[in-house]
Amino acid sequence: MKKKLCFGNWKMNKTPREAEHFLSGFSKKISPKNSDHFAIFPSPVLCGVFTNSYPSLDWGGQNCYFEKSGAFTGETSPYTLEEMGAKYSLVGHSERRHVFGELDETLNKKNKASIEAGLIPVFCIGETESEFDSGATLDVLKKQIDLGLKDVDLSKVIVAYEPVWAIGTGKAATPEIVENVHSKLREILPLTPLLYGGSVKPANAKELYNIKDVDGFLIGGASLEVESFCQIFEEMSVS
Ligand code: PGA
Repeated sequence: MKKKLCFGNWKMNKTPREAEHFLSGFSKKISPKNSDHFAIFPSPVLCGVFTNSYPSLDWGGQNCYFEKSGAFTGETSPYTLEEMGAKYSLVGHSERRHVFGELDETLNKKNKASIEAGLIPVFCIGETESEFDSGATLDVLKKQIDLGLKDVDLSKVIVAYEPVWAIGTGKAATPEIVENVHSKLREILPLTPLLYGGSVKPANAKELYNIKDVDGFLIGGASLEVESFCQIFEEMSVS
């Protein structure tokens, strides 16, 4: 049974006023019975807006540190996120790996720390364009999983396959690529919900969601507008 997870990664976008505006429009469109399918990953400083404007909507941190507390200026503890009401934490998003240089070993610690704090990690994996071109995709993903999820309870995580070349480019992976990758991921992660991310939009959501081992999406740009985010959700039905 597919989980139908529609997750929005806002990255470093939206002020509190803009977030409030989004949530007010969103709450009018989505009935509370469907809110379980959604989560948004805002900047953590926006969490008060979420708690006040739409308390039943799940949200998560875009990043967290692997220590509980201490002299780590600028970092956020997963325990703080959990106490503020977060349900999830994004771990290893492509921008964390490639812009901020986070390594698999660090991501493994973040996955473990998130679970220990009571959060569900959404662990992102994905190959670069040159790795894709050289046919190394499955090897790259396997290494990211082996290192990032080492000694992690696989029933307590969600994995998002996000090819780096598809993120923010408007060029989503083809259904054939997603089907091939997700079926291989399912062999090694039988119990783990699998999301696809990378240029998901209303126009490609139905076809991508219909792929057997796709349980939902991690959506960047199209999650910033109520209209496109909700349209993607409406397209998420199996035909
Ligand atoms: P995109 O981003 O949907 O804008 O490609 C996806 C992501 O970064 O998670």
